[in-house]
Amino acid sequence: MAIILEVKNVTYTYPGEKEPAIKDVSLAVSEGEITCIKGPNGSGKTTLLLVMAGLLRPEKGAVYYRGSPLIDQLPHVRSKFGILFQNPELMMINPTVYDEIAYGPRQLYDEDTVHRKVTVTARLLGITKLLEKSTASLSYGEKKLVAIASILSYDPEILLLDEPFSNLHPSKLETLTRIIINQAEQGKTIVITSPGESLPNIRCDRTAFIEDGVLIKYS
Ligand SMILES: Nc1ncnc2c1ncn2[C@@H]1O[C@H](COP(=O)(O)OP(=O)(O)OP(=O)(O)O)[C@@H](O)[C@H]1O
Ligand SMILES: [Mg+2]
Repeated sequence: MAIILEVKNVTYTYPGEKEPAIKDVSLAVSEGEITCIKGPNGSGKTTLLLVMAGLLRPEKGAVYYRGSPLIDQLPHVRSKFGILFQNPELMMINPTVYDEIAYGPRQLYDEDTVHRKVTVTARLLGITKLLEKSTASLSYGEKKLVAIASILSYDPEILLLDEPFSNLHPSKLETLTRIIINQAEQGKTIVITSPGESLPNIRCDRTAFIEDGVLIKYS
């Protein structure tokens, strides 16, 4: 399978910090693969994911999307990426759940298509009941599902999911696992971070272990 996203010798240091959060990290994600990024708290998983999304600019090395530097292709490839932030609270930028899920599609489609996409995605995630609710009133788990819905609704080809399973009730965990597996079956490229050893029933085609910002194992 063709490589869709490649990280080459990337080092990133947060502004004002002395030590880089990730150091000389390289990995290659093939189309349709599930890549799992594992490592302890503070090891650099989120930083690596945000670099892969083109949201943080590395000071050394680069990220390539389909063989060309990602940065040169932004913003027009932005809609190919679906990014789930570790904290779903940060993703709620619209007043209602409906608007939140419609936000991505509204940049791309007419309102009839937007409506169809919102309805289908909400049904897929079992959150139709929430559509008219205010995003501020949602529980943490509900916010996570709405955040996922707001990504899936515009049908991105790469899903970058930062700890999608953390702090979820087992019933929501099951829903989310089913949806991620379903996305993988549809040929989506998926990158998932996880602090623990195992992910619930998700196959990892490749696993990257990161410690203190260094990729210590990649298989
Ligand atoms: N905005 C920031 N400014 C300065 N330092 C940061 C910032 N965000 C993260 N860091 C630091 O960068 C390092 C890597 O953090 P990162 O959030 O990528 O780790 P992580 O593996 O995702 O951790 P967790 O499992 O807790 O989510 C840590 O030392 C952290 O303190
Ligand atoms: Mg993190």
